[in-house]
Amino acid sequence: MSSPTRIGVIGLGQRGLQHLAALWQLQQEGAVEIVALGDAFAANLTSEKLGRYVPGLPAESIERTTNTRSLINADLLDALYIAIPPNVHQGEVVDAAKAGIHLFVEKPMSLFLDEAIEMDNTIRDAGIISTVGFQQRYDSQHEALHDFLSDKPVVMACYTLHAPIESHSVKHTFTETVGGPSNRVWTANRAWSGGTVVEAGIHPLDLWRYWFGDVEWVHAQYIPRPPAEIFDGADNPYAYSANFGFANGAIGVMTLSRLRRIFASHLDHQVLWNEGRVALERDSLAAFHYDGDYPPAQNPDQDEVRHLIHGKNTKNTTYEIAAAFVRAVAEKRQDLVRSSFGDAMNSLAAVIAANISDELGGVRVEIEALMNSDKFATHRQKILG
Ligand SMILES: NC(=O)c1ccc[n+]([C@@H]2O[C@H](COP(=O)([O-])OP(=O)(O)OC[C@H]3O[C@@H](n4cnc5c(N)ncnc54)[C@H](O)[C@@H]3O)[C@@H](O)[C@H]2O)c1
Repeated sequence: MSSPTRIGVIGLGQRGLQHLAALWQLQQEGAVEIVALGDAFAANLTSEKLGRYVPGLPAESIERTTNTRSLINADLLDALYIAIPPNVHQGEVVDAAKAGIHLFVEKPMSLFLDEAIEMDNTIRDAGIISTVGFQQRYDSQHEALHDFLSDKPVVMACYTLHAPIESHSVKHTFTETVGGPSNRVWTANRAWSGGTVVEAGIHPLDLWRYWFGDVEWVHAQYIPRPPAEIFDGADNPYAYSANFGFANGAIGVMTLSRLRRIFASHLDHQVLWNEGRVALERDSLAAFHYDGDYPPAQNPDQDEVRHLIHGKNTKNTTYEIAAAFVRAVAEKRQDLVRSSFGDAMNSLAAVIAANISDELGGVRVEIEALMNSDKFATHRQKILG
């Protein structure tokens, strides 16, 4: 039996701790050895805090450091998770790839396309195994829909999420010490999160890509939050409307909002093919389609057109994506993960294109031009904070 993959995590915040729990399970199964943890803030690395989130973790025997660069060393690590806010990267992904360390990078990989393109190119040149944190591709309901749609021409997907601004969680980055929001709710702040389409909309957008292919163009318009309505740095727009054009001819319609004083969420997710519609709900995945002789002599009853495809998700998706990544590293098989870094670039470009479209008054932004044309050179550049 081969020795366990030596693995590290940079960024032990909300998401990094969830990854750590999955890796601890994999360690107990003999697949990995957690050898190093890095975080910019020492308080996020104490045995007490790590043990609270990952009971049983032998933190004392794991190298822990605030000098995260010292971990990027192939003598120490075979693979590394990077789960830090997307605006604070300082070459960690590029340096790790150059060192030959296999990479799991959280979404969105950066808020800046030039930076993400450099990461992508280095990962490709290094030939390492990579994945991005699109664990929703491992949800059993989403897998069932992937199979269901495989022989159907999808024409449209519609995703609506109205989430209260108050439902953003307090994060683990001490943002108040590094020029960010005083309350640590950095997902509500545009400079830190990229806005709600980039921060949250990237998940349904990536599912659409998993189900029916790449995005070719985007147009979007947002309703900005006026300065008098901004509290604690929560300056993300009130509401977002974004349309994504897919290579297969389908359109994805995304409607998001983050309003105050509602304290209740509304989610609706539908996918339509040329002769039917699938509704994704928490406990069920149901298709609406009449499959009898056509045309029917009389309109069918509702229960004749509703077909249950799947129940609720049955998987721990954070564990599943970790297990897939670790196995891909052990077997040197990129095909074992569902979203390589290179594949994820289209998801990232699409949501960043939505922001750019809005900035330009709602024009259609072609992804090919956004990635390559001089016209978008300034939009691709990293804004130094
Ligand atoms: N895949 C998902 O479903 C999912 C869910 C939540 C978050 N995320 C993503 O994970 C990433 C991290 O988000 P989070 O919710 O864990 O945030 P967080 O603020 O809770 O955690 C980030 C961690 O990184 C550390 N950190 C901050 N700056 C650093 C730096 N320069 N170097 C090293 N460590 C640094 C912080 O101290 C903190 O412990 C983001 O990209 C976010 O979008 C993904």
